[in-house]
Amino acid sequence: MAHSYFSEFYKKTKTERTQALLDAGVINEQDRLFLSEKTLLPDQIADHMIENQLTQYALPLGVALNFLIDHHSFTIPMVTEEPSVIAAASSAAKLVAQAGGFKTHLTERKMIGQIALKNVSNLTFALEQLSLHKETILKKANAAHPSIVKRGGGAGDVNFRTIAATERSPEFLVVHVHVNVLEAMGANIVNTMMEAVTSYIEDITDGTALMSILSNYATECLATATCQIPTDLLSRGDFTGEEVRDRIIEASQFAYVDPYRATTHNKGIMNGVDAVVLASGNDWRAVEAGAHAYAAKSGQYRALSVWEKADNGDLIGSLTLPLPVGFVGGSIGIHPTAQFSQRLLSIKTAKELESVIVSVGLAQNFSALRALVTEGIQKGHMGLQAKSLAINAGATGDNIELVANGLKKSTHMNLEIAIKLLDAIQHQK
Ligand code: MEV
Repeated sequence: MAHSYFSEFYKKTKTERTQALLDAGVINEQDRLFLSEKTLLPDQIADHMIENQLTQYALPLGVALNFLIDHHSFTIPMVTEEPSVIAAASSAAKLVAQAGGFKTHLTERKMIGQIALKNVSNLTFALEQLSLHKETILKKANAAHPSIVKRGGGAGDVNFRTIAATERSPEFLVVHVHVNVLEAMGANIVNTMMEAVTSYIEDITDGTALMSILSNYATECLATATCQIPTDLLSRGDFTGEEVRDRIIEASQFAYVDPYRATTHNKGIMNGVDAVVLASGNDWRAVEAGAHAYAAKSGQYRALSVWEKADNGDLIGSLTLPLPVGFVGGSIGIHPTAQFSQRLLSIKTAKELESVIVSVGLAQNFSALRALVTEGIQKGHMGLQAKSLAINAGATGDNIELVANGLKKSTHMNLEIAIKLLDAIQHQK
């Protein structure tokens, strides 16, 4: 069982962590070599990835442990600069694993492309024409990207929406093309298709296209994770399991009704989501934009997750997110660390990646809420931030741990105290 290799993982040195992953069969010898080398992007790749490239900006990649998702164990790569994120995800995952793990449910992976038409002189005629020529639109869209069709995906449906004129905007007729993007995130596929059908759609509707582009509001690429936790696993400090359950449910209700709280609640979810999206080489801005739009789908910005009481008294959590991530395409194939992340996850499809990401989001949310409604967030946070403060104060080598331990014992934790502690340690030596 992999778990025994991972006990006290955070206390191990980097070499010992790599060895533990190797012993547990999570990585192979090639991966060990990769981890022992400098893991910067090769210069040539970095230079060709963006314009005007000067240098690289590094962030740490770590692993979240203990995840059981749809009955499979996962070691999950996360890229983040926030000290407490990986520890919080791993500790929630450990608890949820004792309760059977996360279960996920995914829709098909369809992305929507939009063409916005203006100056449509006869709306009824335009709508009739669009209905009449749906098949031709799909044929033209698919002809623009035959390889996705060959692999079993492609444009499958066309829909239309009219948006009435307002004081600030003209009337728009919006054409939506729904594309099954299979293993890709799909932005390039969809944009190519949309641009390919634009002039035909202008011709048949007698309208003028303003733009043709993918929508990042990926409402047809949704991932849901759920977990069910018995109250006997929930007690914390002076709080009983029932109290923790009820307080987490109230925290969820608060975030449902108050956009100020919902924003922070969702930020906590995205702490986990973004870290895996980034590690897997995906477009985290697309995921962020879609998630927040989805949070506002009712007309009010609300919590993305819901925590409720099950009939048997357990705590049930659920999170649904649009997750337009890919397993191929974009920079995934050329980024060596994204490739490493895929090997570490031991997954082969974008759907599996979605299941992992949405589960990490729910785990992160659970950890944050449990801390917030019991001992508060600072205790755990500051413990992990002690090391960053020690480094900021100038500590190196063994002194980092010594200063961090001193900070944890002191009533206040700040840079000034870290500098004083370091000074005292250096004078003792
Ligand atoms: C901090 O990065 C995230 C939290 O604020 C999330 C939350 O409040 O739910 C702890």
